[in-house]
Amino acid sequence: MYLTKFDIRIIIFIMKYTAREVKEIFLNFFQKNNHKKIKNSSIIPENDDSLLFINAGMAPIKNVFTGEQIPESKKMCNIQTCIRTNDIDSIGDMHHLSSFCMLGSWSIGDYFKEGAIKLAYDFLVNELKIPKKKLYVTVFSGDSKRNLPADEESEGLWQEVGVEKSHIVRKPFEDNFWRMGEGESPCGPCTEVFFDTENEKIKSYEETGFFDDKNRYIEIWNAGVFMQYLQHEDGTYSKLKMNSVDTGAGMERMIMALNNFKSVYESEIFMPIIQLIKNNVPNCNEKSLRIIVDHIRSSVYIINAGVEAGNLKRGYILRQLLRRAIRHLKSIGANETLLQNIARSTIENLDKCGLNPDWAFTKEEIIQKITSEQEKFSKLLVSGLKTFEEFIANKNNIKNGKINSALVFKLYDTFGFPFEITKELANEKGLKVDDKEFNELFDQHKNISKGETGKVFKSGLADVSEQTIKLHTATHLLHSALKKVLGENVNQKGSNITPERLRFDFNFERKLTDDELMQVENLVNNLIEKNLAVICEEMDYEKAKKSGAIGLFQNKYGDKVRVYSIGEYSKELCSGPHVENTKALGKFKITKEESSSAGVRRIKAILQ
Ligand code: SER
Repeated sequence: MYLTKFDIRIIIFIMKYTAREVKEIFLNFFQKNNHKKIKNSSIIPENDDSLLFINAGMAPIKNVFTGEQIPESKKMCNIQTCIRTNDIDSIGDMHHLSSFCMLGSWSIGDYFKEGAIKLAYDFLVNELKIPKKKLYVTVFSGDSKRNLPADEESEGLWQEVGVEKSHIVRKPFEDNFWRMGEGESPCGPCTEVFFDTENEKIKSYEETGFFDDKNRYIEIWNAGVFMQYLQHEDGTYSKLKMNSVDTGAGMERMIMALNNFKSVYESEIFMPIIQLIKNNVPNCNEKSLRIIVDHIRSSVYIINAGVEAGNLKRGYILRQLLRRAIRHLKSIGANETLLQNIARSTIENLDKCGLNPDWAFTKEEIIQKITSEQEKFSKLLVSGLKTFEEFIANKNNIKNGKINSALVFKLYDTFGFPFEITKELANEKGLKVDDKEFNELFDQHKNISKGETGKVFKSGLADVSEQTIKLHTATHLLHSALKKVLGENVNQKGSNITPERLRFDFNFERKLTDDELMQVENLVNNLIEKNLAVICEEMDYEKAKKSGAIGLFQNKYGDKVRVYSIGEYSKELCSGPHVENTKALGKFKITKEESSSAGVRRIKAILQ
């Protein structure tokens, strides 16, 4: 069907809920319920090397759950653009996206399961008026291996608010225990809300039977991650000092449910771009269409955040998204020039829907970055596809349905095919590829392994024990002492504090002399001995900067920031926690000074 721009405007006009409306309804509801709206963050994590992209509304504020940082308010909400490429294979179905807007709400040490479940039900049934019969919820079934009990409390609470027992599904650890990844992370059982699409091809859920959460029931809200544990690197759990709630709903899915759409792509967020492609390429494959519009939207967000396509980490994710979109454009027979029109239309439509980031580049600059990747890849794509076809035509190159990994690596290395593209090509032929073997080849070539696109390491405070807090205050004194002894240009480049020691990285071109180290150490000890009060003040970000406070943090938690002062010697933007007076610190001792990387030195120190 050919739709004109006028038709599209009419469709948007008659839609029940648009992105602008859903965002407004969500924020109004939570603000009315005393949640403070906090600012959203860039999709690139700040001061956090453990993630490549912000993948949930809680990621920028994850340290408030452990008590490492003091929240702006105990009850908060916001809307956060997220990038999630871990289930990139699912994109093309009705509801997975590689970027989305998360509607998030939090209770930090305030209400817990009961409050969260009451709010969730009230929002869905009374505010959004979703019929009760369309809603199903899942709860954690427990995990005896990991010593984690079933979440019977949530199951009871859902029934109390009005959800039928037959609409409550118990799910295992893999589905209903939320954590940020395998490493150290606040975590807990979660309860999710699903919407019944009433897909007639799939039988409706019957108690204890199969719950088809791919084709019939779609998750619309993680209505409560009940943060009560800290997951340690070794896979064990300890209890957090306070119980908190983290919730997140994908706005695009919420819009799909509210409008009874068959997929997220029917909303005003994607429809004009889908239509643009259909108008140029009649009868194209629906899955390809979805992959193209999804991947180009995410690429626009990522490029605007300053990432360049490449072979490492964020750059690799961007390359993977762009090249996969380019390959799908080729597979539907689109003219190469269509890509720039898709990019233009995507950018313009983000503005129209109110989903635009603060633009760091002009429209033309972003389009140019996208087409430059197309120029690099187009020719390689043609010859790579030919090589692939020739290779799989020879039966000797395939064993047990699996393509020889040397080819997969060659396609990556010589033809610039991200692994995911080759995997997809293979799947389309009913063949498989081997991730493990590919990664081994990758490592042998001293290149980035796919694994490196995930977690890296955690920095900051390891915990909030008394000793760690003391070392944190000592770090502020060290920072100011380094500036005094080595010059005001010295700035923090990193910090990691455990109960045993502090580790502080700063810019400086050469090794420090023994004399300089002694001066720094003495200065810190002199300040400690002055019994200085540590004062915390809340102020506007701009005012804090003007006041001469130093610090790495950006105003990601809102306009107000905290400034910690130690006498007149140190003034730093920081979220805490700190001791009340330097007299608590004892004796400061530098144990090591070494190079950290080019132009960056590292000091380790203890308190005796
Ligand atoms: N962090 C949880 C999630 O991503 C809730 O927002 O599902």
